[in-house]
Amino acid sequence: MTLIDGKQLAKKIRKSLKEKVDREQIKPKLVVIWCGNNEASRVYDRIKSKACEEVGVKFEEYHFGENISETELIDFIYKLNNEESINGILVQYPIPKQISLQKIANAIDKNKDVDGFNPYNIGLLDSNCPVFTPCTPLGIMKMFEEYKIDLTGKKVVIIGRSNVVGKPMAECMLNANATVTICHSKTKNLKEELLKADVIISSAGKRNIVTADMVREGTVVIDVGTNRDENGKLCGDVDFENVKKKASYITPNPGGVGPMTVAMLLNNVIKAYEIQNGIINYD
Ligand code: GUN
Repeated sequence: MTLIDGKQLAKKIRKSLKEKVDREQIKPKLVVIWCGNNEASRVYDRIKSKACEEVGVKFEEYHFGENISETELIDFIYKLNNEESINGILVQYPIPKQISLQKIANAIDKNKDVDGFNPYNIGLLDSNCPVFTPCTPLGIMKMFEEYKIDLTGKKVVIIGRSNVVGKPMAECMLNANATVTICHSKTKNLKEELLKADVIISSAGKRNIVTADMVREGTVVIDVGTNRDENGKLCGDVDFENVKKKASYITPNPGGVGPMTVAMLLNNVIKAYEIQNGIINYD
């Protein structure tokens, strides 16, 4: 069994991004918006801000109350779209329930859409010519690249169908020539599906949804979920201690996918800067 060390790989990627920022003498800028009192959003915000500082990306955050209206938030995004010094815009999920996720994704300028949630960018990924790929799936693809795990013809089973992980993950895997199944809360027999998998990617957000009896010997297991155990400690979706005995490769959680997501956000902000300044061109 090989442990996929996302923490170490993310560090290596941040180092190479910093070298790029220094070499090109650029100063990309990310704006993060978060609303309400979600404790996790506050924590993620701090992690992102630290990572930006390390790499030399300017970071600005705006925090709104739980009661912000949809028009107020969209008008604010439009203002950021028109601000030339801002290269990337990210609205942290979850957002208050009176606000449509879709309208927010639509509002963000496609060239500043570092989350890759705007329908234009989703369409590009779907057409296998991606510009901004959502950060978590992109980070997972980098792990496969780093560990030289070939996906051609492999059976990949994804748990979760969100626009943040499950669906874009499936697109990435199709683009890498895998055979893809997406399971979700209405799937009839999850164990039966998982036992067919060469690769399992769990983004259910449910502790111990993947146990050792559901995993074939030699499977690659990627754990995206963020949960807490009975002692309040962070954990993933996978029963790590037992599943690792059967897996060929497995991500720890924490220390696996999470740091890669943040590294890919930095990657996308720098890419946004390069697109906006004509350093790279996708037209
Ligand atoms: N909340 C959890 N993951 C993400 C993400 O990748 N992007 C945003 N905007 N919010 C999130």
